[in-house]
Amino acid sequence: MTMREKIEEAAVRYPDRRSAIMPALLIAQKEHGHLPGPVLEEVADILGVERIWVYELATFYTHFHTEPIGMFHLQLCDNVSCMLRRSEDLLRHMEDVLGIKKGGTTPDGLFTLSTVECLGACEMAPVMQVGDDYHGDLDVARIDALLNSLRATAGRVVGVEPASIRPSGE
Ligand code: FES
Repeated sequence: MTMREKIEEAAVRYPDRRSAIMPALLIAQKEHGHLPGPVLEEVADILGVERIWVYELATFYTHFHTEPIGMFHLQLCDNVSCMLRRSEDLLRHMEDVLGIKKGGTTPDGLFTLSTVECLGACEMAPVMQVGDDYHGDLDVARIDALLNSLRATAGRVVGVEPASIRPSGE
């Protein structure tokens, strides 16, 4: 099924075409990996809505990416509950072991590191979303184990060398 067909199929479930922009963007992002300008224009054209409406939603919500991102998007919550449970230390640790700053992507294209607003899972703060999964009660050891596990997954999926994450301070 083409992207157009998938969007058309989704759009019939909504009262009007404008209401279907969010699901259409999710479909387009799944198809292309991210949402560059020409893809946003294509979504607008398929739905027959103003391009600015599509652009506004794509740039407002953190679910959508107008720039390419890594295979794993590490979205660490830095809102109040997570901040009080030291999410800042975890951010610094990931910046150290991955060799990137917040907002960056590792040169091997595996990881993009971001901070996000409350993920609605404060009871297991500090929390990080990776893809569709939430990881809670995080500490440095759990972060290292998670990154190693994601690298191993990448190795199985695309043959990327599953280099181990070196704990900071070594
Ligand atoms: Fe982090 Fe709510 S503040 S999940």
